[in-house]
Amino acid sequence: MRDWIRGRLAAAGYVVFNTRSSAHYAQDSLFTTNSDHFRGDPGFRAAYARGLRASHGVDPRHEWRVHVALCAAELAARVPGDFVECGVNSGFMSSAIMQRLDWGRVEKTFSLIDTFTGPVAEQFSGEEVRAGRLRVVEEVMASGGYEFDLGRIEENFAEWPNARVVQGVVPEVLAGLGIGRVAFLHLDMNCAFPEVEALEFFWERLAVGGVVLLDDYAYYGNGELRLAIDGAAGRLGASVLALPTGQGLIVR
Ligand SMILES: C[S@@+](CC[C@H](N)C(=O)[O-])C[C@H]1O[C@@H](n2cnc3c(N)ncnc32)[C@H](O)[C@@H]1O
Repeated sequence: MRDWIRGRLAAAGYVVFNTRSSAHYAQDSLFTTNSDHFRGDPGFRAAYARGLRASHGVDPRHEWRVHVALCAAELAARVPGDFVECGVNSGFMSSAIMQRLDWGRVEKTFSLIDTFTGPVAEQFSGEEVRAGRLRVVEEVMASGGYEFDLGRIEENFAEWPNARVVQGVVPEVLAGLGIGRVAFLHLDMNCAFPEVEALEFFWERLAVGGVVLLDDYAYYGNGELRLAIDGAAGRLGASVLALPTGQGLIVR
């Protein structure tokens, strides 16, 4: 009976997936039956687990995003320059990256920049407010989704002496940090203005072969952010690879 139904639907141009089977990836706005083999890799699992430790066990179910970030960071680790993340929260992604790269042995600094008081409402454009982006982050904040305890943040990163936690507002804080050449820039502030400003600030510092990973570039509902990044990328002569995870990738 099931095969008959499937056959009839296929003849009508539909494909049916059993979403309870393990033969697909379905999380974080991404559904695919392509291979998600990386999820079984012990190195990936260890990095993901370290990310979860940073987020106090709260699992955002971002496995494919983390997979992309780990690969991008591995590429960038071969390039001269330091690592920077703007938008750190409790350190989920950056901790996974540092675990994967055995960061204590890497001769680079990872600057982890965040207000640690949540997003800056005044930085949202009228279009972003109308599109509901400010409301979304305010809801996240109200539900306790952002980490405000700097002590806990510093404790999380304490195992890596070459991790540098910076509390400040992007872009204002950037010029005073003395950051030179950059190999890896992760932008994850969920707001167009600071992401564009950070991209423009770091572009001249980005080494050839350096990587910019934009966490929310093509993510559902983030059209204003994408348009703003596209504008900046156009001015800088860069092109952004939109990924099905919702991330965007630039290689200099
Ligand atoms: C989505 S969270 C970052 C998630 C993080 N990358 C992770 O791996 O879990 C966004 C963060 O951006 C920070 N943020 C937003 N606007 C900022 C700004 N202008 N300057 C610094 N941090 C900002 C917020 O405080 C929040 O912690």
